[in-house]
Amino acid sequence: MDGNGRWAKQRGKERIFGHENGVQAVRETVEAAGEIGVKHLTFYAFSTENWCRPKSEVNTLMELLVNAIKNETPELLEKGVKLNAIGDIDSLPEACIKELKEAIEITKNNTRLTVTVALSYSSQWEIVNAVKQIARKVKENKIDPENIDKNLFKQFLQTHGIPDPDLLIRTSGELRISNFMLWQIAYSELYFTPVMWPDFRKKHLYQAILDYQRRERRFGKT
Ligand code: IPE
Ligand code: MG
Repeated sequence: MDGNGRWAKQRGKERIFGHENGVQAVRETVEAAGEIGVKHLTFYAFSTENWCRPKSEVNTLMELLVNAIKNETPELLEKGVKLNAIGDIDSLPEACIKELKEAIEITKNNTRLTVTVALSYSSQWEIVNAVKQIARKVKENKIDPENIDKNLFKQFLQTHGIPDPDLLIRTSGELRISNFMLWQIAYSELYFTPVMWPDFRKKHLYQAILDYQRRERRFGKT
């Protein structure tokens, strides 16, 4: 989700106005994905690097997050959405952790669509964290280094249990990955759109999926 700040500036408003309006785009995307049978949807909401933004922006983003979870949980329940989170969740403010854990618990038996929010997430953090866990197990003689392969490694990533993304969408015209699921997107299809995140609507998700459907995925084969 990118472009909230620029969207607000274009309207002569503070950046946070863009974040506030980004919530509606999340709502629509979840709804659209559920309707067309997407099983997994991940939102990159806050990166490890985003902690370096001005304190006031970080605080407001965290408040928005708490409120969004609080307000949307009944809707998620009704729509059969299971909420999940990846990232360094313990680094979030206490109130966020509490709301998040509650919402995850309340929606845990839903099966229609799993929505994962990446919070205080970065792929390099995730990979280093996986290496650390594996190293510990090697030290405790629980893993033989000879048995480390990509399937074992995957088990230690935050995304264990979630399939690798088929399609990655980045809004706002930036042509970057910005530390998102570097391992998992090895064979993902990438889609970049100039639409700013607060303007992202169901039709934009459909456009991205239609584009994806025209592609031939070869996974390195012929
Ligand atoms: C995306 O919008 C939201 C977050 C990263 C939290 P930005 O805040 O990155 O908006 P721009 O890129 O400055 O326009
Ligand atoms: Mg940005």
